[in-house]
Amino acid sequence: MNLRIAVVGCGYWGSKHVRIVNEMPSVRLALAVDPVEDRLAHIRAQYRRVPVTRDIEAALRPNVDAIVLATPVSTHYELAARALSAGKHVLVEKPLAASSAKCRELIALADRRGLVLMVGHTFEYHPAVAYLRNLASSGELGELYYIDTARLNLGLFRRDVDVLWDLAPHDISMIYHILGGPALAVSARGNSYALPEVNDVAFADLTFPGRATAHLHVSWLAPCKVRRVTLVGSKAMVVFNDVSPDEKIRIYDKRYTAEPEGDNYADHLAGYHHGNITIPALDTAEPLRLEIEDFVRAIVTGSKVRADGASGLRVVETLEAASCSMANYGAMVTVPRMGGESLFAHSRGEVA
Ligand SMILES: NC(=O)c1ccc[n+]([C@@H]2O[C@H](COP(=O)([O-])OP(=O)(O)OC[C@H]3O[C@@H](n4cnc5c(N)ncnc54)[C@H](O)[C@@H]3O)[C@@H](O)[C@H]2O)c1
Repeated sequence: MNLRIAVVGCGYWGSKHVRIVNEMPSVRLALAVDPVEDRLAHIRAQYRRVPVTRDIEAALRPNVDAIVLATPVSTHYELAARALSAGKHVLVEKPLAASSAKCRELIALADRRGLVLMVGHTFEYHPAVAYLRNLASSGELGELYYIDTARLNLGLFRRDVDVLWDLAPHDISMIYHILGGPALAVSARGNSYALPEVNDVAFADLTFPGRATAHLHVSWLAPCKVRRVTLVGSKAMVVFNDVSPDEKIRIYDKRYTAEPEGDNYADHLAGYHHGNITIPALDTAEPLRLEIEDFVRAIVTGSKVRADGASGLRVVETLEAASCSMANYGAMVTVPRMGGESLFAHSRGEVA
């Protein structure tokens, strides 16, 4: 029998889940749920055979096996907990919940019931990010010095979370996937210019073991759409430009190697290397489709999902540390190690 999936929340992002679930073989889009009639009318018009309802209870009945939750962040915990308690496998959109305590409760609930809990970290499934991860781990970039990300545009302004909690989960989950582990500490600043008390611009600096650092810039208040990730290593540099349709990755054979003895201008110039720019061909698979396939595979075969509850928790712990830093004028705040104290707790005079 086909796996029966309900999509709860059919707004901007949920409607993409609806499209993909509806197209997948061996899966049936059993139900689309949204409290807003206009959203349902839109789904009804496009997918005539898909049952739609405003009643969330319908998704908790036995004729649904799994639920995709694409609702506002403030509803994630309550709806996911209800779905897991009703015995449904759940894919929750990012961030997993509005606090790390709530993430832990969801992880424990899913474990107790033997259910799949997944978070919508779409960039962990992006072919360009897989390429960056391979590039970084193969040593082709040399020592990875730093990562710089920019996720900017005008809008979409949200009210229940600030820009950091809305957009930075993409960058944090992507960076952790590339580097293979979470940050030790974070320092962040944010401002609310257009909206009272909801930050619409944020900057965060993440510190990792060794020398690697990452700098994130997220904004709802910028003139142009920017989706850029830059990795700078000792041997080469690479830019992932997600706005480009066909040149998403550019590898720059560029570096600077200071001459140990050199102190004249000629030595200084000799340190620069400007080589070729390579644009690799990438898998064109849609990241959201790969993500939902991972969810379905885990339910059907018992495999482990990549973007699991632990991945969701790591990102939310980092967001909490960043919010704490913002409230303390950018003070360095430790990112807790999952389930315990950080390696660096209290060692740098950070804010608790
Ligand atoms: N993974 C990604 O790339 C990505 C991209 C965009 C948004 N998102 C995430 O998707 C989620 C939704 O974002 P969006 O941009 O689609 O917002 P949206 O406002 O466009 O859609 C949210 C929908 O949820 C519905 N809703 C609200 N409360 C509900 C409830 N209790 N039960 C059922 N439906 C309810 C609303 O009516 C609305 O249609 C957020 O968690 C967001 O962070 C993820």
